[in-house]
Amino acid sequence: MMPPSDALVFFGATGDLAYKKVFPALQALVARDGVDVPIIGVAKTEMSREQIVQRARDSIVQAASEEGSPFDEKAFALLAARLCYVAGDYKDGETYARLKRALGNARHPLYYLAIPPELFETVVGGLSHAGCVEDARVVLEKPFGRDLASAQALNATLHKVFSESSIFRIDHYLGKEAVLNLLYFRFSNAFLPPIWNREYIDSVQITMAESFGVSGRGAFYDGVGAIRDVLQNHLLQVTALLAMEAPRAAEVASSSEEKVRVLRAMRPIDPNDIVRGQFRGYRETQGVAPDSDVETFVALRLFIDNPRWQGVPFYIRAGKRLPVTATEVLVDLKAPQPVFDEIEPPESNYFRFRLGPEVVIAEGARVKTPGEAMRGERVELVARHHSTRSKAPYQRLLGDAMRGDNALFISDECVEAAWRVVDSALRHETPVLSYEPGTWGPERADRIVTDEPWHNPSAEAVEPG
Ligand code: BG6
Repeated sequence: MMPPSDALVFFGATGDLAYKKVFPALQALVARDGVDVPIIGVAKTEMSREQIVQRARDSIVQAASEEGSPFDEKAFALLAARLCYVAGDYKDGETYARLKRALGNARHPLYYLAIPPELFETVVGGLSHAGCVEDARVVLEKPFGRDLASAQALNATLHKVFSESSIFRIDHYLGKEAVLNLLYFRFSNAFLPPIWNREYIDSVQITMAESFGVSGRGAFYDGVGAIRDVLQNHLLQVTALLAMEAPRAAEVASSSEEKVRVLRAMRPIDPNDIVRGQFRGYRETQGVAPDSDVETFVALRLFIDNPRWQGVPFYIRAGKRLPVTATEVLVDLKAPQPVFDEIEPPESNYFRFRLGPEVVIAEGARVKTPGEAMRGERVELVARHHSTRSKAPYQRLLGDAMRGDNALFISDECVEAAWRVVDSALRHETPVLSYEPGTWGPERADRIVTDEPWHNPSAEAVEPG
């Protein structure tokens, strides 16, 4: 096992991801987790060290104000003292020569590629040419490739330079407290295994709704779209965690084998089972092509061909400019045999997992309404946590990668198995239907769900009692 990384280099230092997530994570790593290594930002824009430090400060001030916490001057000083910057074109060998000089005595650097996927090969090639890859680790942002073929090619290229144990394909959903809790909850409660199957579960719905659009990252998003941006990775990972068999104790954190097995059992998406949408006004966003047919919304029906899930539909939906920002899973149980003479059907049993912005695990049940009649009402039993108490995903995952712990990263087999599921949906055979911002996407998405209507997560994490 290699020692912990002794430098952290991040490509894409002037980009949106670095601004929104990476700088705050780096400060937390340095100030709270005691990471004490040089941190080198790399990007094309000419900038001085002072300018990148200022950009980091702006990013962290903004993140703190969004969280409602004060800017921590002392913590920032620790980050600023370690931060430096290398400017250069990723295609230019000189950039890597400068980086090598900036790395000084570091022997086990971690390279974090927070850049669009089409640049991965160029950067890995540049690092390799410059002799910077020995004993190094590499973290790659999602999406990993554009489809199955390009992901396979990318894996082959990476494997020429890095061993699989030095490659960290990041999916920040896997570092989320709520997603880790989903895994924990599924396999730590005796009441779940007997009912977690086609006998008792009617359908599963997963909705990732975002009320905001793509401002500030139009150019990136327009080359990607919702299927590549969040379905192939975040949402299929959540589906895999919901549907997989129990992992062996030795690999419980990564659950890699079981995730790969269940992803391989997923039926490739039938183009008739998917609806793509684009919010009105998207094409006017800076960086977006005026005739773009990239989807900002996707809704689909997915089936898993194995004995546990045969015939159970998994409905998955994600979109920008929807009415709320909330990611929720609803596992709907079949109705029990009716015993009481009730007007309302007793179809109220479900599990609800709110994965963001808050963490909620809740169970829908029925109880008797006080009075003579044997009538009931639906209640929700809630176990609630606060995500703010846990580490932000990027802090957790970058810290893991620096120590060489790849449990919460995506393996080569896993990423390819996920692309295989969505590959057919990428051929754009389905038209892009427009929808009004602030709605739940194109109406046609309602036809995807055949039994229950879509469950629309509410702005409130916990339903009013
Ligand atoms: C990113 C996507 O991976 O996840 C974004 O590129 C999306 O489009 C984001 O907004 C959502 O993640 P979170 O953790 O901020 O809800």
